[in-house]
Amino acid sequence: MMKRCRTRASLAAALIFCGLAASPSMSETTQALPPFQAHVDMKTFMDHVLTPAANLIWKVNGSVIDTSGEHDLGPKTDDDWENITSGAATLAEATNALMIPGRALDPEWNAYVKKLADAADRAYQAAEAHDLKTVADVSDHLDGICAACHRHYGLE
Ligand code: HEC
Repeated sequence: MMKRCRTRASLAAALIFCGLAASPSMSETTQALPPFQAHVDMKTFMDHVLTPAANLIWKVNGSVIDTSGEHDLGPKTDDDWENITSGAATLAEATNALMIPGRALDPEWNAYVKKLADAADRAYQAAEAHDLKTVADVSDHLDGICAACHRHYGLE
């Protein structure tokens, strides 16, 4: 008889549950899951995956001052818009990687990730539509979404 393990809750919970309840079929259970793998530690993920993607969205509202005056960094060319799309798409997809089993620090983790995913989705749709007003709005609020999670885990 094959034991089947239904993944009703999170994958992580299912892994723990199946591991305890059905140890003879553990390898079968493991094989049934996609081969998720955390490739880098959380600090590296934040610094080298989330931050560069978020920077492309923050840049929309930024400006630089040089000898010829102040220049806003908002998108002007198609290439500028492509870069915003890249940032938003990377940020959105990265939220899945934040939820792979083993990364969550507590049961509230995924709710914070979801807020980031929703914002990134909104930025992505807006970038595709060259809708500067919406991208700028996401850009304004993104910091607060990152910070809410950081505060929850006592990081700032
Ligand atoms: C779901 C929770 C969560 C969200 C959302 C989140 N972070 Fe983090 N962040 C963390 C955790 C946990 C750490 C601590 C990592 C460590 O040092 O182990 C961290 C640390 C950091 C650090 C410090 C890394 C270092 O070098 O010490 C940066 C920078 C950072 N996050 C950027 C971001 C940005 C930018 C966003 C939003 C686009 C974001 N984070 C969203 C959980 C989150």
